Amino acid sequence: MSVPTKNQKLIDWVSEIEAMCTPDQVVWCDGSKEEYDRLMNEMVESGMAIRLNEEKRPNSFAFNSDPSDVARVEGRTYIASVKEENAGPTNNWIDPVELKKTMTKLYTGCMKGRTLYVIPFSMGPIGSDIAKIGIEITDSPYVVVNMHIMTRVSNKVLEVLGDDGDFIPCLHSVGKPLAEGEKDSRWPCAPLEDKYIAHFPEENLIWSYGSGYGGNALLGKKCLALRIASAMAGREGWMAEHMLILRFTNPEGKKYHIAAAFPSACGKTNLAMLQSKVPGWKVETIGDDIAWMKPGADGRLYAINPEAGFFGVAPGTSQESNPMALASLKENCIYTNVVVTEDKDVWWEDMGVDCAGGIDWKNNPWTPESGEKGAHPNSRFTAPAAQCPVICGDWENPNGVPIDIFVFGGKRTTTMPLVHEAFDFEQGVYMGATASSEPTAAALDLGNVSLRFDPFAMTPFIGYHAGDYMQHWFDMGEKLGDKAPRCFYVNWFRKTDDGKWLWPGFGDNSRVLKWMCDRVDGKIDAVETPIGLMPKKEDFALEGLDISDADWDELMKVDKAAFKATLADAEKYLAKFGDKLPVKITEQLQALKSRLG
Ligand code: GTP
Ligand code: SPV
Ligand code: MN
Repeated sequence: MSVPTKNQKLIDWVSEIEAMCTPDQVVWCDGSKEEYDRLMNEMVESGMAIRLNEEKRPNSFAFNSDPSDVARVEGRTYIASVKEENAGPTNNWIDPVELKKTMTKLYTGCMKGRTLYVIPFSMGPIGSDIAKIGIEITDSPYVVVNMHIMTRVSNKVLEVLGDDGDFIPCLHSVGKPLAEGEKDSRWPCAPLEDKYIAHFPEENLIWSYGSGYGGNALLGKKCLALRIASAMAGREGWMAEHMLILRFTNPEGKKYHIAAAFPSACGKTNLAMLQSKVPGWKVETIGDDIAWMKPGADGRLYAINPEAGFFGVAPGTSQESNPMALASLKENCIYTNVVVTEDKDVWWEDMGVDCAGGIDWKNNPWTPESGEKGAHPNSRFTAPAAQCPVICGDWENPNGVPIDIFVFGGKRTTTMPLVHEAFDFEQGVYMGATASSEPTAAALDLGNVSLRFDPFAMTPFIGYHAGDYMQHWFDMGEKLGDKAPRCFYVNWFRKTDDGKWLWPGFGDNSRVLKWMCDRVDGKIDAVETPIGLMPKKEDFALEGLDISDADWDELMKVDKAAFKATLADAEKYLAKFGDKLPVKITEQLQALKSRLG
């Protein structure tokens, strides 16, 4: 096959990797439909993919992973900066020279019996100033088809790259070479102790080995657009955040842009597409997972979504909870680890429809009576963002959209009220920096912890020292001055003592967003509490929602004793940052302590 580029750095890199990994052949991907169809046909043929019902799910396919390879593996994810102190206390670190030695051994001959695919992709609209070009080398055709949807894969990327342009090299292998004549497994991958998701931030280089799943393997997403990009952004004065982006438009047509950071599996995709319950207000989606933000010429902060698709949590997605996500799934999608029904449709828990049975995520016959979950809790759909009925007309605008509001949050069944607002940007940074959440299924190996501090929902994605990252947030605030977004903290996940949701969530979250917009416009006052500014019930758009005064009070309660306990935990957590903990964080801690009395 001829090489479709004259970029010498790229040609040399591909030859070097080919020599190390010794694949049977090399294929340069062009992102075409022909390529997608060909790879899908091959995977259906080999038994890796299931072609779904052409009438119900046109051009859609289901995959089941190996039961050991179902989510990101944070314990095997490394920031291999030259100096250990630059990886900081939130990251695993191995000396880059040593890590490359270890991984080179694993990579040597690892693509035997396989094809090496070269995927030129753009994060962000091709050719836009804020976009970045990556080249992923992978031996997984599943990765290629997912990258087609999640990023912009095209020969145009190589044109923009030109003869001497720069790119971010992303090397991936499933880590399962095939011996002569050996039959491939349905989902090849390496055992946990051989998995490495490695980042070399000073070189803008990614090496991933041993996993075929999601953020471990689709390297444009968490590896490039968050870990490497956050390190670049810290150096260059912009932001790469684990945030959804949405546009909220009021009945008069005024537009508000909101970026919200919740940890994995804590509601970004749902909020990004919500169906507003506030009459006349509507939401349009710009992104559901990642935001890249830069100050614009007018001094405001502009955000783009670097991705082109949604890699969304399937369980819980229903007509009731997220109809716009379901509508995005009508065709051209990939499903991983869901149930494939007898008529070759897909199903998952809390989809809101009955299922007679089918093949479960472990590839076994399954019925709802079996007592086991049919879909893995971290099962996912891969869907083109353009298929979302409420995708915003500006979602690919290379200039981005100006952010009015930052929202932080997490899953807390106790303590955290439904919403509170920061007194100012610096307190907002403190709120983001001390955000906490109960663990979810999106990472495999968090152990038996009940609560995790997860600064800015970025703990597993900060590509450098988290203390420097927090300082960068303060620096951005200073640069933006009075044009900085207003900061809020939300919690949709409060439960009653008998385990029921206190707040209906989903579409009803629009009521909370509306309160934020009214605050930004200076239309309403708020109640000052030790933790921040909180709504008065009469200012909240509650029409059509039956919520008792008792439940409201509970949702808005500031339990001082519980907050003091969380504060003490936060202090302990932040002590790990040593002298890299920004002075402003310490000031905020002290101020909160004295407000709590
Ligand atoms: P990642 O893709 O892992 O980054 O996750 P995400 O932040 O996009 O989370 P997502 O929107 O997929 O939601 C994850 C889970 O939270 C799903 O099971 C949802 O049903 C549930 N969820 C989302 N929003 C709400 C809400 O407002 N209330 C309640 N109770 N559950 C919610
Ligand atoms: C997350 O875990 O935050 C995800 C899924 O969005 S993955 O792409 O696997 O990281
Ligand atoms: Mn995510």
